[in-house]
Amino acid sequence: MYIIFEGIDGAGKSTQIGMLKEWIEANGFKVELQVEPTDSEVGKLIREILQHPDANTERVQRVLGLLFAADRLLIMDKLEDKSKIIISDRSFISSLAYQGDAEWIEILNRYAKKPDLLILLDLDVEKSVARTSGEDTFENVEFLTGVKENYLNLAKNYTSEIIDANNGINKVSSDIKKAVAPYLGICPDCIP
Ligand code: TYD
Repeated sequence: MYIIFEGIDGAGKSTQIGMLKEWIEANGFKVELQVEPTDSEVGKLIREILQHPDANTERVQRVLGLLFAADRLLIMDKLEDKSKIIISDRSFISSLAYQGDAEWIEILNRYAKKPDLLILLDLDVEKSVARTSGEDTFENVEFLTGVKENYLNLAKNYTSEIIDANNGINKVSSDIKKAVAPYLGICPDCIP
């Protein structure tokens, strides 16, 4: 099973993935984690470019679209291990939500693996800005509002569970477990 976590910056993906992994393992499954961008040379280049002041321009976003797509193609083989549940922190769905230009991004990601389950951590934009100590500028708020909207629309295209990420860590974790349980044949009412 291939589970993808998505959400705007500060939504709590890495914390929640860690908690979900522990719980799935306690239920007797093997779990493998993936993070995008990866630690490949392409992933390192992506992180550098994201720091540039012109990272948000259309031109750089097109370049980033290419690099993100290349970075994930490099790890495609790892996603085929059927003996494990693979949980990914971001995916091609991030590219669709962040880079926009769906036509361009879809061509580049033709060979990206589609999720069996998408978990969307839906966080309010004000909380995202506060949690990431990001700039509360009009541009930033407008950008994140667009990304959040894109995510909610994209979720309709996949088997997905939308989780309210504005709650405390333990409440969010329990909501995620309840949502994932039926896919793994675990009784959802047995979750504290
Ligand atoms: P993020 O998971 O937030 O990394 P970190 O743990 O370093 O905060 O991802 C880095 C940024 O990259 C984030 O703002 C989202 C963006 N991103 C894209 O724009 N497109 C993509 O395809 C991916 C995978 C990430």
